[in-house]
Amino acid sequence: MTTTSENSLFAIPTRQSDSKVFYATMISNASPVIDLRGIEKHFGYGDTQTVALAGLDLVIERGEFVAIMGPSGCGKTTLLNIIGLLDQPTGGEYRLNSRNAAKLPSGRKAKIRNREIGFIFQNFNLIPKLTVIDNVALPLTYSRGLNYKHQEKASKILTALGLHSREYYMPYQLSGGQMQRVAIARALANEPSIILADEPTGNLDSKNSEIIMDELTRIHREGNTILMVTHNPELLSYASRVIHMKDGQIDRDIELVDNKAYATTSKFKSRRKESRKRNWIRRRK
Ligand SMILES: Nc1ncnc2c1ncn2[C@@H]1O[C@H](COP(=O)(O)OP(=O)(O)O)[C@@H](O)[C@H]1O
Ligand SMILES: [Mg+2]
Repeated sequence: MTTTSENSLFAIPTRQSDSKVFYATMISNASPVIDLRGIEKHFGYGDTQTVALAGLDLVIERGEFVAIMGPSGCGKTTLLNIIGLLDQPTGGEYRLNSRNAAKLPSGRKAKIRNREIGFIFQNFNLIPKLTVIDNVALPLTYSRGLNYKHQEKASKILTALGLHSREYYMPYQLSGGQMQRVAIARALANEPSIILADEPTGNLDSKNSEIIMDELTRIHREGNTILMVTHNPELLSYASRVIHMKDGQIDRDIELVDNKAYATTSKFKSRRKESRKRNWIRRRK
């Protein structure tokens, strides 16, 4: 019988769990993973113009679990789309892992999106004509071409999420909670270091929400960065920081120091500081 931890996503080798790569990652990411300065996003022109983001500044370090809250229409989805390189800002500067997003050619952007970023949407966005396992393997096929190993990997992730018996089902045969777990499995297929989740539990009951939040917590503990839009204040207990948006800007930005997630984030932050110090000492020698 497998234990919970063997069954968990920790069992899947990730870039973070490979110590050599992890060390290199920490050093190269001493600067923030997400750095937005004066971000503007306008839709339409003239009288019909909507200002979705109005000079937004936001800096996120690797290993943070950020909850984004705010009324409908305040720009949360627009912000995630820009961070995930699905959309371009009208103005301002965006650096993703120190790379200037505006200067990235579209092919390079697609690659980064596929390999470094995992999206989870409220409506799951599964492809209805593909089986569960093919949905999960799809990002691997996009980035690495067809290979039976992708099916093996997809199967491993699905097993970790308790969906082994549903691999050859079609999405319409699943419950909402199962569909969202498939969507998470798909988001994790390429072992992204940034997870962008837009109201991931918005369509789920409390039991399924808890399953999803526990998975996000595991992913966070691996050292990954999570940004999650939510309307549910109860979910703040899973985050290390909460950002309240209003009219396309950050209204309030609060570190949730009493939460477990904050301890996880601090651990990664202090390790990063140490590695920075080690680097500095090495340079001085
Ligand atoms: N593709 C679009 N075309 C025109 N207006 C848009 C588009 N996407 C978003 N908007 C507008 O931008 C504002 C912010 O939208 P959105 O980011 O979806 O808000 P939220 O996710 O916080 O509800 C809203 O006024 C919305 O109507
Ligand atoms: Mg939205």
